[in-house]
Amino acid sequence: MMEWPMATEERLTGYPELDEDERLRRVQAFEATMRSRRTVRQFDAAPVAREVIETAIRAAARAPSGANMQPWAFVAISDPDVKRRVREAAEAEEREFYGGRASAEWLEALRPFGTDAHKPFLETAPWLIAVFAQPHAVADDGRKHKHYYVKESVGLAAGFLLAALHHAGLATLTHTPSPMGFLRDILGRPTEEQAFLLIVTGLPHGGATVPRIDKKPFDQVATFFEG
Ligand SMILES: Cc1cc2nc3c(=O)[nH]c(=O)nc-3n(C[C@H](O)[C@H](O)[C@H](O)COP(=O)(O)O)c2cc1C
Repeated sequence: MMEWPMATEERLTGYPELDEDERLRRVQAFEATMRSRRTVRQFDAAPVAREVIETAIRAAARAPSGANMQPWAFVAISDPDVKRRVREAAEAEEREFYGGRASAEWLEALRPFGTDAHKPFLETAPWLIAVFAQPHAVADDGRKHKHYYVKESVGLAAGFLLAALHHAGLATLTHTPSPMGFLRDILGRPTEEQAFLLIVTGLPHGGATVPRIDKKPFDQVATFFEG
């Protein structure tokens, strides 16, 4: 299992003193940024520097995780040959999915998004980031160590990743070809890892459109018990 220095205690830093106005201004600015995020399905082929992708992954890897197990791995792909293999495998699964594996109810839920088995963005977009979950770690002696709250932790890290990429002006598509086992094979990942999400990222295509959808009203998603 990975070893890393386990500090006892250190002084907390990184929380500047802000007055209430500044605090509100900051959170409003962040909300406006996140409000402009959309899932994009048409990408420009323009390259994006590796350093940008790497830094976004560094931000994602700062996410909290159950018992700090960090049960995730990110695989960033810009190699055209690997992207082509990912596309071919994803489209093969998606043809089965849209051709009968998905329930009628599921297909109906997807109808507004106009998605089908055709996934050209897997080759057009400059980067694919495969996110893997690690239900357990394997120590050097082969013994398994369980990880806790794996889905919650990897979901949080993926959220950080999407926020970081969006903050950098990049479009993202959270893609889940179903099932995704082929990613582990193509990318040569250890058998104990599970493909979790495939994040497609790059600049949006100049003429990109997105489905006109809405988010639930605030009072349907948030409840306050104020003192
Ligand atoms: C876990 C998850 C899986 C998703 N899988 C797909 C997918 O395979 N293909 C796709 O086109 N969109 C996929 N999406 C994107 C959703 O359709 C999209 O987030 C939703 O319609 C809301 O739109 P917005 O992201 O623009 O707000 C997925 C999103 C999530 C969170």
